[in-house]
Amino acid sequence: HASEAHRTDLMTITRFVLNEQSKHPESRGDFTILLNHIVLGCKFVCSAVNKAGLAKLIGLAGETNVQGEEQKKLDVLSNEVFIKALVSSGRTCILVSEEDEEATFVEPSLRGKYCVVFDPLDGSSNIDCGVSIGTIFGIYMMKDSHEPTLEDVLQPGKNMLAAGYCMYGSSCTLVLSTGSGVNGFTLDPSLGEFILTHADIKIPKKGKIYSVNEGNAKNWDGPTAKYVEKCKFPKDGSPSKSLRYIGSMVADVHRTLLYGGIFLYPADKKSPNGKLRVLYEVFPMSFLMEQAGGQAFTGKQRALDLVPKNIHERSPIFLGSYDDVEEIKALYAAEE
Ligand code: AHG
Ligand code: MN
Ligand code: MN
Ligand code: MN
Repeated sequence: HASEAHRTDLMTITRFVLNEQSKHPESRGDFTILLNHIVLGCKFVCSAVNKAGLAKLIGLAGETNVQGEEQKKLDVLSNEVFIKALVSSGRTCILVSEEDEEATFVEPSLRGKYCVVFDPLDGSSNIDCGVSIGTIFGIYMMKDSHEPTLEDVLQPGKNMLAAGYCMYGSSCTLVLSTGSGVNGFTLDPSLGEFILTHADIKIPKKGKIYSVNEGNAKNWDGPTAKYVEKCKFPKDGSPSKSLRYIGSMVADVHRTLLYGGIFLYPADKKSPNGKLRVLYEVFPMSFLMEQAGGQAFTGKQRALDLVPKNIHERSPIFLGSYDDVEEIKALYAAEE
């Protein structure tokens, strides 16, 4: 019976990636080993998040990060877990984390050919109230086998080999693309394995939801203000869109990917480059959106074409359903 086959044919994320790897034999399994270490980090953070309230992991760590944000205990813990897991994989040479001012250059004896950029815990402001948070990551191949330099991570997002996120919510869901589509895996805690649950995710061409922090409305530029106005008071008599904003990018993007719609973190007068960081928030989510048939725009260009100049650079971002992003691109084009 089909259901029987389904129950016994467990497609774990490791098996899935190995199948993918067969398309890149030259990688000799290095990518699979790297991914397994990222998955290990996600499993650890998932269990820490689930018992945060009990294990005194709520609250501040008493430090601030390069972003000027007060670090939460879980920010610091998850950062340490991912750095250690990635270094011990023996497959990385440079690591960039939201929580570390400088990039980590892996010691030669443990050096591999991949560069990983990551946000160990996204949506930290939601930790203490139990709202979904996540981890975001992107993977580059170093430019060529010379001494690793920052140039190896200051690459446009279109050069990423893979990107993904893990959302710690009612279930632990890992969404991944290695460049041929997007797939979602859910952690089965009884097996400790991520099982394929969302095969070949495609974002609806157009959505009914817009997702933005309306509290910044007084500082928005013209095109953003016009677009949001259009969502609320459509001229052509179509129904208004619904507003959904969780404040964790991972959760807002996951809903957008599955239900359709648009997520916006625009520039505003106070922060002309918006808030979200290019390497480990904008690029991975833009990569996933394009792989799922959507698109991602910075207000000036295709997000994945951006070439970052520093590792914590920010950019405005408009991403989601193809047709919805087309509308905001038209408004910015008219502004030029
Ligand atoms: P992080 O917790 O990793 O610093 O990221 C927080 C980001 C992102 O998750 C979310 O979309 C955005 O901050 C929310 O910002 P506002 O509270 O300004 O809306
Ligand atoms: Mn932060
Ligand atoms: Mn973040
Ligand atoms: Mn973070």
